[in-house]
Amino acid sequence: MNREIENQIEKILAEMTVQEKIGQLNQQAEPRSDEEITLCKQKIRNGEVGSIILTASSTAGNEKKSPINEELLDELQHVAVEESRSHVPLLYGRDVIHGHQTVYPIPLACACAFNEELLKKSYRNIAREAAAQSVHWTFSPMLDLSRDPRWGRIIEGPGEDPYVGAVMARACVEGLQGEELSDEDSLLACAKHYIGYGASEGGRDYQRTEITDYSLYNYYLPAFRAAVSAGVATVMSSFNDISGQPVTSSRKYLTDILRGQLGFEGFVVSDWGSVHHLLNFGVARDRADCAALALNAGVDMDMAVGCYAENLEQLLKEGRVSRERLDEAVRRILRVKLLKGLFAHPYPKKRRVDRGGHLAMAKELAVESMVLLKNERVLPLAKDRKIALLGPFAKERRSLLGNWTVDYCLEDVKCFQEALEEKIGREHLLVSADESGMFDDSVPKAGMADVIVLALGESWERTGERRCISELSLSADQIALLKRMRTLGKPVVGVFFCGRPMAMDGLAEYLDAILYAWHAGTKTADAVCDLLFGDRVPSGKTAVTFPRRTGHIPLYYNVTPSGSTINGYYGEEPFPCYLDSAASPAYPFGYGLSYTMFRYGAPQASPQALSLAALVAGEMFHISVEITNIGEYDGKETVQLYIHDRIASRMRPLRELKAWRKLSVGCGQTAAAEFELGYAQLGFYTEEGNYLVEPGCFDIYVGENCLTENRLSIEVR
Ligand code: BGC
Repeated sequence: MNREIENQIEKILAEMTVQEKIGQLNQQAEPRSDEEITLCKQKIRNGEVGSIILTASSTAGNEKKSPINEELLDELQHVAVEESRSHVPLLYGRDVIHGHQTVYPIPLACACAFNEELLKKSYRNIAREAAAQSVHWTFSPMLDLSRDPRWGRIIEGPGEDPYVGAVMARACVEGLQGEELSDEDSLLACAKHYIGYGASEGGRDYQRTEITDYSLYNYYLPAFRAAVSAGVATVMSSFNDISGQPVTSSRKYLTDILRGQLGFEGFVVSDWGSVHHLLNFGVARDRADCAALALNAGVDMDMAVGCYAENLEQLLKEGRVSRERLDEAVRRILRVKLLKGLFAHPYPKKRRVDRGGHLAMAKELAVESMVLLKNERVLPLAKDRKIALLGPFAKERRSLLGNWTVDYCLEDVKCFQEALEEKIGREHLLVSADESGMFDDSVPKAGMADVIVLALGESWERTGERRCISELSLSADQIALLKRMRTLGKPVVGVFFCGRPMAMDGLAEYLDAILYAWHAGTKTADAVCDLLFGDRVPSGKTAVTFPRRTGHIPLYYNVTPSGSTINGYYGEEPFPCYLDSAASPAYPFGYGLSYTMFRYGAPQASPQALSLAALVAGEMFHISVEITNIGEYDGKETVQLYIHDRIASRMRPLRELKAWRKLSVGCGQTAAAEFELGYAQLGFYTEEGNYLVEPGCFDIYVGENCLTENRLSIEVR
């Protein structure tokens, strides 16, 4: 605790009226029309606004480009600081999710890079760009574990694994918040959506969820725990309910667990309208009820819908909310504003940012995010072959950026065709005359080529909030194109520009090579071209399972065992699990090919056994494995370490990722991946949230993806 800041808080609080305190809890949407601006200024003058969210829409990610009006923000801040009685500055929040002017890969793709240092640096750059445009606070990182790619928002988060989520949480929070929150180029981060939103039933947005406390602690909370321990300044309460309890009105989730167990000290903001949604859930009779429930549960700031502003004064009079709780929420918000340095420097200084450097990093992360799923000796391509580039994503730009970006510069984005022309020269390229890349000339064009490259995918408008799909597949015309091209007897390469994994049955068999490029941001096309021609070697590994069919969802690697052996691990089938299809994944978690090959040595452990007391005292198992690059390219390999607690008081997953090392290994070279496993890695949470390490044997798997059988065992005595 910073004494000086605490004293300042008390001083400010002592001078505030009840109305001004309530104002601090009110976040209002960005005013756009003259009328809205005049009204907003008046409210700020009256002390009725604590924060402004820089969007006017409840689904900001689906908006087209919408520039920040810096002049207006400056004006409004002057009104708050100079014309309001309490002089408390406004906090400006914006959804800066995976980039600002420079757009990085969608978060699900970032997870596939398995490169936390690069991620942290990228988020540092994102903060620099947004902070230079008056943004103080971003609603990122999104940390929702999701096992359902039908859900449009799976693109925004870390995928299916709690450990990947935890590593990403730390990297993003540290990157966004920088060394000091008060640094001018730092953003306040917001861990969202707390909690369980990614478990929406059927992949339908805003749908109910069923999450037991055991699953909550072991699957859904770890990323938030990591964000809190990295010092995240704010947390957003989610839209969903968990087993009949809306999170936004739940003291259990928002106070007992988040603060009591995770130790969160910042403030909680609701999601857009989630306070008002308590009406729709049928747990509140009117908006006053909504406000009372949410504030008492632990929501400190009400996003965009004014339930607090409208009702808290009366609720205080009626004793339905307490002055103590109001003061507590105000203190938390003032603390964050003070830590951000807003009182000392309310007006941003004009600063230049290194766009060139940021673009280079965006390309690096794009290269590392892309996953080579299949390669029947086709890739890398030689630059002097004739290539037919076909498909609807050859000339597309906007979709490459992905959803949840509103500050992008389209002029920085090359389409795939332009990047390919630059790479190999126009003379080596045959392209469809039609904008869509799909029409009649595709067959003759392909007939003249040595290799057919298909630019396939889904639009950015088919991903994100309220954009769920029921079939994980490409459009019918793309599938027809794929099948047609297969008949020509030429190698066919599919480059998939998608936000989510597709079900691969009916797609993969028509292709000789598949590069899963995702929506990888501003530099998507350049990154793809570098990879296709071997200027860079693929190193991405998928952080989400690729099912064969949509009907196999949910399919995720860290499952617990089942009682009957009819269901093998992860859809593997001692007996057929589905009568109509193989249930194993098309591509398992952690999977991704390279142009080179890595041979794994047997893992070694030292010591092989430790007492529980020694573990508690901090001793560790040291695990190492050597990998040798036996192929013809220098490359990077993500060496993954999974554990399985053989016998425990609760069922434990058959594989759980606990660590990885991304190593660069030159052709013919050997490198060692070294890991430490200790108390923090070998335990689990009980349904009460107590952490337990139980004595017994643990299988340790070290290999190239979650199906590795390269293992040893260690014992906790
Ligand atoms: C989304 C949040 C977002 C907020 C503000 C909501 O609809 O669920 O992720 O931060 O809007 O734009």
